[in-house]
Amino acid sequence: MELTDQLRAIRKNWWIVALTVLTTVGAALLVTVRATPEYESTLTFFVAASSDTGTALQADEFAQRRVAAYAGVLTSGRLAERIAANRSLGLDSRAIASRISATPQEDAILLSAVVRDTDPARAQQIGEAIEEELGPLVQELERTDAASRANVSLTVISGPTAPTSPVSPRPALNVGVGLLAGLALGVSLAVARQVLDRTVRTPEHVRASTSLPVLSTITAQHPRSRRRARPDGLVAAADPGSPRAEAYRRLRTNLTFSAATHRMQVIVVTSPLAGEGKTTTSCNLAIALAESGRRVLLVEGDLRRPRVSRALGLEGAVGLTNVLVGQVEEADVIQQWGPHGLFVLPAGTLPPNPSELLGSDKMRAFVQRMRQRFDVVILDTPPTLPVTDATIAAAHADSVVLVVRYGHTTRDQARSAVESLRVVDAPLAGVIINGAPLRSAGVPYSHDAGRPRSADVAPAAVAPAGGAAGAGRPTAADPAAGLPNDARHVGAHPDR
Ligand SMILES: Nc1ncnc2c1ncn2[C@@H]1O[C@H](COP(=O)(O)OP(=O)(O)OP(=O)(O)O)[C@@H](O)[C@H]1O
Ligand SMILES: [Mg+2]
Repeated sequence: MELTDQLRAIRKNWWIVALTVLTTVGAALLVTVRATPEYESTLTFFVAASSDTGTALQADEFAQRRVAAYAGVLTSGRLAERIAANRSLGLDSRAIASRISATPQEDAILLSAVVRDTDPARAQQIGEAIEEELGPLVQELERTDAASRANVSLTVISGPTAPTSPVSPRPALNVGVGLLAGLALGVSLAVARQVLDRTVRTPEHVRASTSLPVLSTITAQHPRSRRRARPDGLVAAADPGSPRAEAYRRLRTNLTFSAATHRMQVIVVTSPLAGEGKTTTSCNLAIALAESGRRVLLVEGDLRRPRVSRALGLEGAVGLTNVLVGQVEEADVIQQWGPHGLFVLPAGTLPPNPSELLGSDKMRAFVQRMRQRFDVVILDTPPTLPVTDATIAAAHADSVVLVVRYGHTTRDQARSAVESLRVVDAPLAGVIINGAPLRSAGVPYSHDAGRPRSADVAPAAVAPAGGAAGAGRPTAADPAAGLPNDARHVGAHPDR
């Protein structure tokens, strides 16, 4: 992973970094607040050797060695025992020893003793006891026989100091350490999350896992704007100036161009899993295609969880299944939606055997008839991985488009879905990344949201079966408007 990728991962997962820093700084503050304050009393001895140890230089060297040795004596149990025996501090010798530390400065022949205690007065008392007891103890230790004089002397040159403020805890230090630790941990977690994330997010992910092109990246509709706008996500008609509507038009254009290699009259829309946006994509694509002047039939081919008619506000009790079993005529149940050439066939009565119905000869014949009547037929289907309906419906299709949900569908799921479609030789046209954040969708230019450009004017009212049949000539802003006829009316093959 390169540095730029890491920086991107940190920027994207900034909330992880922020959360980790908040947690570690909070923990540092908690530790600081809960810690018992400790005080220090310091006293410093000057260590001198008497001249009978040799020359002045030799005496200095001798004293330096003694500084190191006395540091050991300072923290020894022997000194602590003497202090405990001679002073009533309420501590035993072990507790006293644990409070004393020594800092020898051999070069300066100085020896410092530091006493740390939760009680500032007792810290100083122990310091005073050290001042009194260390000298006699050293004399005792240095004496080779009872009569000889010790040849070193210890003189207190500072202390024992009276502690006024605690040396521990140190709030600034603790918070600083918490901050740095939080940053390091947060950055590692953010990068690790990026490395471990196996969901589809970019066209590169799509290409790597499916070898298919991305036809369009549809941005996520913000929940707030979803509440304000339509709950059904029919942005292509309701908010034609929005980045999402633009993305559906881009999908229309790319499908139009891919018609050079794929026929595009019957389009099956599917996805690996449930809830990835098949129905929303089918509806908006159908609206976008109808707005460009094509006669479009949107078929609710999801016979398990049909949502098209609900999204478009249509009556869906009778539809495709009733046509297939011969209960009704298709002309009686196909409903027009909006002022353009969009027609909708609801699912109808839910059957116990949806995949058999979709794969039946009756279905094949129905699709053939629809090819005669419509420029484009869009089939919304169930997800590919849990059920076989979409792979069966793909047999009727000229193009199959796979919807994957940004940050939700994993690359393995996308690969498996494509593999199961390839097994039946489905004519895969490409992938739609749905629900991408605005910044990653590569929305190119100038979206004055909510202000339709003259040529992308939305229907006056987004309502079912409003306008006159045959309405909806190609608009000037249709990205495909400048294409030659055969590219524009993709799939409108007279032989079909
Ligand atoms: N780009 C988007 N931004 C925000 N919400 C979206 C987007 N696309 C779809 N949704 C929402 O996600 C939910 C599922 O969408 P949709 O019904 O289209 O998925 P589906 O794949 O057809 O689901 P199912 O498998 O149940 O048929 C709906 O509430 C829809 O409004
Ligand atoms: Mg659906």
